[in-house]
This record gives sequence, structure tokens and C-alpha cells, in this order.
Amino acid sequence: MLPFFFLSKQLPDALIPTIPGPEMPLACLTDFRALAQERLPKSTWDFIEGGADDSFTRDDNIAAFKRIRLRPRYLKNVVNVDTRTTIQGEEITAPICISPTGFHCLVWPDGEMSTARAAQAAGVCYITSTFATCALEDIAATAPRGLRWFQLYVHPDRQLSKQLVQRVESLGFKALVITVDVPKLGNRRHDIRNQLDLKLNLLLKDFYWLKERTSMPYFQMSPIDSSICWNDLSWLQSITRLPIILKGILTKEDAELAVKHNIHGIIVSNHGGRQLDDVLASIDALAEVVAAVKGKMEVYLDGGIRTGNDVLKALALGAKCVFLGRPILWGLAYKGEDGVKELLNIIKNEFHTSMALTGCQSVAEISQDMIQFSRL
Ligand code: FNR
Repeated sequence: MLPFFFLSKQLPDALIPTIPGPEMPLACLTDFRALAQERLPKSTWDFIEGGADDSFTRDDNIAAFKRIRLRPRYLKNVVNVDTRTTIQGEEITAPICISPTGFHCLVWPDGEMSTARAAQAAGVCYITSTFATCALEDIAATAPRGLRWFQLYVHPDRQLSKQLVQRVESLGFKALVITVDVPKLGNRRHDIRNQLDLKLNLLLKDFYWLKERTSMPYFQMSPIDSSICWNDLSWLQSITRLPIILKGILTKEDAELAVKHNIHGIIVSNHGGRQLDDVLASIDALAEVVAAVKGKMEVYLDGGIRTGNDVLKALALGAKCVFLGRPILWGLAYKGEDGVKELLNIIKNEFHTSMALTGCQSVAEISQDMIQFSRL
């Protein structure tokens, strides 16, 4: 057996985050960002924060929300604001869930297990990445009542992907999220400069399990099948009963194809600006996709969500729910499960305030006439 090690078990002391309480309470998601940066090694921080090429789209994901203004309505009874909603028929406490991000053990020793427990406690959905660094069995067992979806990168060996999908289904994951925007990895300049080599450090237990430590024991950095096409979706549909969601759709053309292929949902996303730079901010692509699907499936959004107002704006433009990527890793780096819980709590409270201050008692009342695009 090769002398690789698994970070969750053998994190060098210098990399284990210390947990001194901050002097002031954390008040917003970006407060967690500063603490995470302080605690993580530079190459890990750069890996998390980095965008592709000039990181234009990564930054525009955030700036685009600031180009949208709110139109509040007053003198409406907001004593009982209810943030609950459903996704794919399952109830969540607020339309704020967790995007798939890989390698959680880079930022906290028991990585995805902490994330899963925090999501369960918060009553929101956690999309577990193909590049999770904890075994899927452990993630499911540590948060058995949590709503979990699984994000799949289709492997060139279809048999491996099929086994993984069946395993995910038997572990109680409730949907399959196919990420479509990574036929090839984007250019991440910091990772090149830092000579970051995840494959040397991380063992992907899930693939390890599948091949019983023989033919493909270690995660390789190019396991994604770049030949995947629309026609292959019927193969995926034939191997699972789970609803299939496409993550990374940005245009009406692809949204219409998703409808044609009987897909159950779309996550409008540009991968946090980590894949193709210079694409639209995800919030700017949302309306086009929502219009194209004509209510035939749920549309979600990720990318740049940092405040409760951002959540409200995305819902006003037609998203059923939003997902958080980097902020979850900030919370995890800060204080593991408790850090993610605290972070989710803050943005859920912010969203509650956003609803109350715009005059919405229920999520269903959030509508497009509550926003206006600023000329700036
Ligand atoms: C990601 N993202 C991602 N997406 C995916 O489908 N599978 C994955 O394994 C990963 N891994 C991953 C790692 C890291 C460190 C980051 C930052 C992102 C993309 C992620 O799901 C999401 O689309 C963006 O992170 C959303 O943007 P924000 O919230 O980070 O601005």
C-alpha cells in the first residue's frame, strides 16, 4: 500500500485550527471569512477563495447583487414571518442550503461529517460533493435525519459511477446533482503558483471503497468524463430513481434542453467563478433560466450569496432556494460543526429580517416587483 495518508485522521498539528473565541460576536458571513483566512494555511485559503483566470466572475457574483435594489412594502402584518419552504417536495427551514464543495477535511479534521451535522441541526439541505473526504457511510450515519443530495462528477468508468449512484441511493441521499460546468478544470492561478497537488494529499475514500483498494485506490485529479453529453442523461435516469438536478446551467438554450430531457431541477451557477471566467454573474443569469423552464422544474441558484437580502433578491427573481459555497468552508474553518451552525443561523436570521422589512410573511409572497435593477 502506498504511503498516502488521509488528512482527517492525520492532520499535522500546525494545520489544526485553534479555537480562541473572537473578542466580538460574529455579526455577518464576511466576519467568518477573516477568521478563516487567519486560521488556514495560505495554499488552502487560496484554493478555497480562488477563481479562474482573473477571478472577474467570482467577484461579479457578489457585485451583481449590489446592482439590485429592494422595493419594500410597509403596513403589512409581519408578526409571524415564516421562512420555511420545500425543495423537491422536502421541507427546509429556510431557502438557504449548502452547495457541494470538496475536501472539507482540508479545513476541519472531520470535514464533511461536521458539515452534515450542522446542516441537519439547521434543517437545511447539504449537497455532498463527489470529492468529499469522509466516507459517504460516515456522513449519512452522523446526520441520519438530515436532508442530503449527492453531487456527481461522472467518472470515465461508467461502472464506477453506477456503483456510486446506487450506493448514494441506498444511503438515503434524496437527489442526484450533476455538475455540468467541469468538462475540464478551470485555470486557477493561485493553485498553479502554490503548486497545490490535492491528489498527493487526499485519499477519496469513496472510490477507494468501490475498488477495494486495488485497481483505483486513489483519487486522481482528472476523473471527470469530459465526453458527457445531453444524450447520456437517459443513461443516468436509467440507473437511479432519484430526481436529477443539473448544476451549472447559465443559458436559456441549456435550460430548454433540460426541460426536454425531463430533468427535475437546475442550479444556476458558475461554480463560484472557478471554471469559465467572464461568464455572467449567476444572479444575472437567473431570470433567463427561470423564464425558459416555464415553471416545469424548480430553479435554484448559487454564487455570491452573502446576506439575507441576497437570498431575498434571488427568490424575487424566481429561485426556489439558494446554496452557499465558500461561506460554509469559512464557518467550518472557524469552529467546525458549531461554526457552520452559527453561520447558517446568522444568514437565516438576516433573511427573516429581510422578509419582515419588505413586508413578506411567507416565502411565497416574495415576488419580482420587490426588486429593481440599479443604473450603477
Ligand atoms: C466548489 N464548488 C464545487 N462544485 C461542485 O459541483 N463540486 C465540487 O466538488 C465543488 N468543489 C468546490 C470547492 C471549493 C473550495 C469551492 C469554493 C467551490 C462550487 C460550489 O458548489 C459553488 O458553485 C460555489 O462555491 C458557489 O459560490 P460561492 O457561494 O462560493 O460564492
